[in-house]
Amino acid sequence: MTAKATSNQVLRCRECRTEYPSEALFVCEHCFGPLEVGYDFSHLDAAETRRKIQAGPNSIWRYADFLPFTGRPRDPVQPGFTPLVKADRLAERLGIGELYVKNDAANPTHSFKDRVVAVALAKAIELGFETVACASTGNLANSVAAQAAANGLDSYVFVPSNLEEQKLLATGVYGTELVGVDGNYDDVNRLCTELAQSRPWAFVNVNLRPYYAEGSKTLAYETAEQLGFELPDRVVSPIASGSLFTKIAKGFGEWLDIGLLEGELPVFNGAQAAGCGPVATAFENGWEVCKPQRPDTIAKSLAIGDPADGPYALELARRSGGGIDQVSDDEIRDAIRLLAETTGIFTETAGGVTIATLRKLAERGDIDPSERVVAYITGEGLKTLDATRDSFEMHVIEPNMGSFEETVEAPREAVGSRAG
Ligand SMILES: Cc1ncc(COP(=O)(O)O)c(C=O)c1O
Repeated sequence: MTAKATSNQVLRCRECRTEYPSEALFVCEHCFGPLEVGYDFSHLDAAETRRKIQAGPNSIWRYADFLPFTGRPRDPVQPGFTPLVKADRLAERLGIGELYVKNDAANPTHSFKDRVVAVALAKAIELGFETVACASTGNLANSVAAQAAANGLDSYVFVPSNLEEQKLLATGVYGTELVGVDGNYDDVNRLCTELAQSRPWAFVNVNLRPYYAEGSKTLAYETAEQLGFELPDRVVSPIASGSLFTKIAKGFGEWLDIGLLEGELPVFNGAQAAGCGPVATAFENGWEVCKPQRPDTIAKSLAIGDPADGPYALELARRSGGGIDQVSDDEIRDAIRLLAETTGIFTETAGGVTIATLRKLAERGDIDPSERVVAYITGEGLKTLDATRDSFEMHVIEPNMGSFEETVEAPREAVGSRAG
């Protein structure tokens, strides 16, 4: 079946390419493949589009022409337009020529999930839903709860009950129905897939998944725009379901197709925690599909044992000449510290996974000194305090000079003289 699209957008099966109208659908009726939004951008003129983007709001809505709506939705949250930081000190430590850190912890609820939720909720409102919901590893929960509140929608948020306390607090505070499920993310997701069939709710990452996923593309658009409408040579991004990873590629690809960018798709490196690395394991073994894993890692936001976009992430890593690595919890902790010390950016564990992977690539000699590299930091360190709790010591002193000199300065001088 090829249904008639009502605008320049359709839902298209990622496997058999069957097309459907733009509704709350996520699985192909013919082959059960996942659906994604397909567009006709043939009417866009590159120079005019660039001008329009640059005149747009300082949020993801400057890319409204590339998102699944007609017009620009009312959005009280305005995510996006986060800093692309040139990380020279980190580059020097790792021996990389040109390195940027895209700091998406600077979003309203401190993760890139604000991008995907803003797109999904705008679509939910367009389709007439009054209640929104999600299955989450934590950050999505924060964002759905906050943006539902800002839009006056009811919300149900389902998470594994053993989540970081900070993420639970930063969700419950918005007055959502917060449901802690006694199980891992894959159990939560199964429950939500069942609920989506029997409740009139917009599950942002289940029945609205094709639209939700489009929000991640804006990270590619922003990166390219901040580089002066140029492409990086390599990107390093964390992988949980694999949606972010593959949608960054979709974003760059769309702009290449319409002539807003020139060159080739960057090399794509994915980053996973060894305690939950089904895509990295499949990559290492040359498999086409991912074997589900039971997660056991401090990187809880990436703890998806059965990743929906796993095969597409594998294909992208291979096609682009990149790869997918997995790093230990200790490497994650060290990398959080390294990023903080060299850039002033405090990332949550997912960013630790990204920077530990970047370090691995650099140490292995996989990055040529001439390359321009972008690493995606997708969440904020204050959300995962347990991971960094023991990583430093505080000097506790009496409120007088003597105590300061004895406790802080004398040990520093002793270290200095030993070093000299
Ligand atoms: C901070 C952070 N980074 C990256 C990801 C990966 O997202 P995806 O499921 O799109 O791979 C997640 C997922 O929850 C996340 O919370």
